[in-house]
Order: sequence, then structure tokens, then C-alpha cells
Amino acid sequence: MDDPRERPAGDAEPDPGVASVARIYDAYLDGTDHFPVDEEAAARVIARTPWAKPVARFNRAFMVRAVENAARAGIGQIVDIGCGMPNDPSAFSAAWGVDPGILVVGFDNDPMVVARGRSSALASGRGTLLRGDVLDPWAILEDLEPLVDWSRPVALVVTAVLQFIPDDRDPWGLLRVLRGPMAPGSRLVLSHSSTDGTAPEVVAGVEDAYQSATAQIKYRSDEQILAFFEGTTLLDPGLVAVQDWRPGPDRWAGEIPDVPGSVVRVAGAVGVLPA
Ligand SMILES: C[S@@+](CC[C@H](N)C(=O)[O-])C[C@H]1O[C@@H](n2cnc3c(N)ncnc32)[C@H](O)[C@@H]1O
Repeated sequence: MDDPRERPAGDAEPDPGVASVARIYDAYLDGTDHFPVDEEAAARVIARTPWAKPVARFNRAFMVRAVENAARAGIGQIVDIGCGMPNDPSAFSAAWGVDPGILVVGFDNDPMVVARGRSSALASGRGTLLRGDVLDPWAILEDLEPLVDWSRPVALVVTAVLQFIPDDRDPWGLLRVLRGPMAPGSRLVLSHSSTDGTAPEVVAGVEDAYQSATAQIKYRSDEQILAFFEGTTLLDPGLVAVQDWRPGPDRWAGEIPDVPGSVVRVAGAVGVLPA
């Protein structure tokens, strides 16, 4: 599918001198879309907690299971905000593995992610990956207007993204804007780094390691994370560590490090908008 709005290249060049949160995550996932500066930032996080890489994998795997679950429930439109590199497994491959006719639209503000989206990776299904910023949800909705049928349910995927939006930018309000046009039966698939279950010194160390990256990371409590799901009914098992949300035989399921005392917890849940 063609980009509905040809955007000027503008500032859309990856900067190899500044670690980017998308490329650091790619390094955790052992992808190939990152620079030495990203490897160094990832290594600084891993030095603080050996859980960094497994947790990134658990998070991606949670997103995949939740998208597959939505697709199997008949949801035919997936909107993935802050989708990250579209390497397999992604929301794209997860949805199209169930039904190649499902519409998947990804957004990310990272130029390297957007460039990867223009490669052949997305040729096998119905969808597109556009440049979009959570800080401007109105522009995202404008881009979605010609693509999404808002009278039908949508799965809105926002995994490990709002932790990069500081309190003073009101991530709860930004998400409310994105959720605005969603029909009853739509789903919110969301995960977020949590202070509940992460050692305080690990929170401080990881937040410090992201200080010089393109965005800073902010851990939040489960109570603050649950507030993103306001007005939805959570599917079982509710808000849990991402690896505990309906665990299945996914690629990284066995990867539990044997390092007590330095645990990182990313919490995730799926909320359904009532009829
Ligand atoms: C940790 S990765 C998670 C990727 C993917 N959602 C997943 O769960 O596998 C965070 C992603 O959010 C993107 N991101 C961060 N801040 C953003 C913003 N303000 N607008 C759009 N994307 C953003 C980053 O570029 C990156 O790709």
C-alpha cells in the first residue's frame, strides 16, 4: 500500500552519533539495524541488569501473542504506534500469519524504522509503516483516516512506547486522543516498564543509561500503567509481567535468566472497549 501522504524527507536521516531508543531495542533483539553508539548504550543497560535483553524479547513476544489473539478474534485492523523495526516477529508478521488480509498500519518517529518499513519487509500483506509521533496523535489520526474503517473494531498496539513520553507531555491524554474514534469491541494492547517488580537501583541505572539517547526512559507504577486502560475491560490475566500474559510456545519463551535481585519487569495487558 502506498504512503497516503508523501512526506518530505526533512530531518528523516538516522543520526549515527546519538543512540536511538528504536536502535537500542534492535540491539537487544540482536537485529542488524543499529550503530556502535546504540550497541554501547545497550551494553550500559546490560551492565546494570542482565535482564535487559530477555525482557525486550519477552515484550516483543507479548505483543505478537496479543496481536495474534486479536486477529483470531476477528479484528481486521491493527494500528501499531511506536512499532519499532518491522523485523520478524512483528505486528505485521503476527497479523498476516493469521490472515494476510488484515490491515496493519505501523507508526514510528525513528527515521531508521520508517526506512525499514519502506523495504520489502512489508510486501507480503496489506499495510504500511508511516512516520508518526505519539506527541502529535492528531496527525496520526489524520493519516489513518483514509485507511481505517472506524465503524469496525481496531487493535491499537502501544507496547514499550509510552515509557518514552514524560509526565509533563501527558501520555494518558495523548492515548485518549488516539483511542477517540475506536469502535466498541476494539482492543488496547499496551506494555510499559514498571517500577513494581523492578529493583529501584535498576530503575535508576536504566533511566541514567538513556539520558543521552533520542528519548529518555521513565518507569511507572502498575497503578499508573493501569490508568492507560481506563474505560476498558481487561482480558485475563489482567496486567502482568509480559512473559506471563498467556505464555505460549514463542521463540524466546525459555529465556529466563538465572539472576535474582536484578529483575526488570515490563507490565502488559489487553483491554477491550465495551459495547
Ligand atoms: C522499545 S521500542 C518498542 C517497539 C515495539 N513497540 C515493540 O514493543 O516491540 C520503542 C519504540 O517506540 C518508538 N518511539 C519512542 N518515542 C516515540 C514517539 N514519541 N512517537 C513515536 N514512536 C516513538 C521508538 O522509536 C521505538 O521504535
